[in-house]
Amino acid sequence: MSLKDKVLSVLEENKGKNVSGSDIARSVGMTRSAVWKAVKQLRSEGYTICAVTNKGYCLSEENDFLNEHSIFQELRTKELGRKIDVFKTIDSTNNFAKSLAQLGAVHGTTVVSEVQTQGKGRMGRSFYSPIGMGIYMSVILRPKLSVEHSLLITSCAAVAVAEAVEKVTGLDCKIKWVNDIYVGDKKLCGILTEAAVNVEQGGLEYAIVGIGLNVQNTSFPKNISDIATSLHMETGNKISRSLVAAEILNSLESHLENIRDKSFIEDYRRRSNLIGKRIEITHNDEVTQAECIGIDEICRLLVRYDNGEEKALMSGTIRIVE
Ligand code: BTN
Repeated sequence: MSLKDKVLSVLEENKGKNVSGSDIARSVGMTRSAVWKAVKQLRSEGYTICAVTNKGYCLSEENDFLNEHSIFQELRTKELGRKIDVFKTIDSTNNFAKSLAQLGAVHGTTVVSEVQTQGKGRMGRSFYSPIGMGIYMSVILRPKLSVEHSLLITSCAAVAVAEAVEKVTGLDCKIKWVNDIYVGDKKLCGILTEAAVNVEQGGLEYAIVGIGLNVQNTSFPKNISDIATSLHMETGNKISRSLVAAEILNSLESHLENIRDKSFIEDYRRRSNLIGKRIEITHNDEVTQAECIGIDEICRLLVRYDNGEEKALMSGTIRIVE
């Protein structure tokens, strides 16, 4: 860890409180003037650090930069997020995580960035990822799962995100099948899971769970302003991105441990905003309407068409018909 990182770690641990220069110097094993130099460097990167004579340094609680120390503060996992790469900028955290996975990165390795220049959404769409506003995070998973259970990872992640957001903010989060998190009628978060299958052994080699969650946004571009929301817009408060990111990892790890017993599916159903609604289904350019009557044990969407035929859908884009 660099000297600057060591100082940042002490400041993050004491966020909002004064720590004397000599206490920091002692705990990181460097001189007071080296501490001062590190503080200046951190300020030049945008951190607000006050220096008060006889009191020391204080990292303002207003700072919402993502860094490994701020995330570690709140992390209670054994594996997820324990190895974390935090970028200032990146094309897509999913792309980077995929290249790490191909090089053998361990289960739980996590990639986070302040901005994505080519954030990816499902179905080849892009994901709006402006600087400092959201959590753009990809987690490499290597669970020992059959292909059947691997198909549940995205739904399991949706429950984990909804639970984490609810824990931090108290907001009532709904899940729009298969992997979007909604507050009211607006999308808060999308999840893109990309996986590689081990052809010889017939199981999952790795999965990349990419989570894009709008946090500090106060507005959105015109094309999505009617359908997107953020934690700030819903609560009126500035919510710590590090705290939410860590809680997502905490919740994801505990749900993944139990993925085989499928207990999360009850939670998924409870949070579904489609069950009982009339919906429009777009699948392979074909558009149909039906009533959503449930979600089955492998997270397929159960629908009943107007002619009485019932079907279990594996994929498709859904719109609620008013
Ligand atoms: C969707 O809404 O269609 C899925 C959006 C997934 C966005 C996340 S942000 C982190 C990760 N990196 C990406 O390029 N995409 C995912």
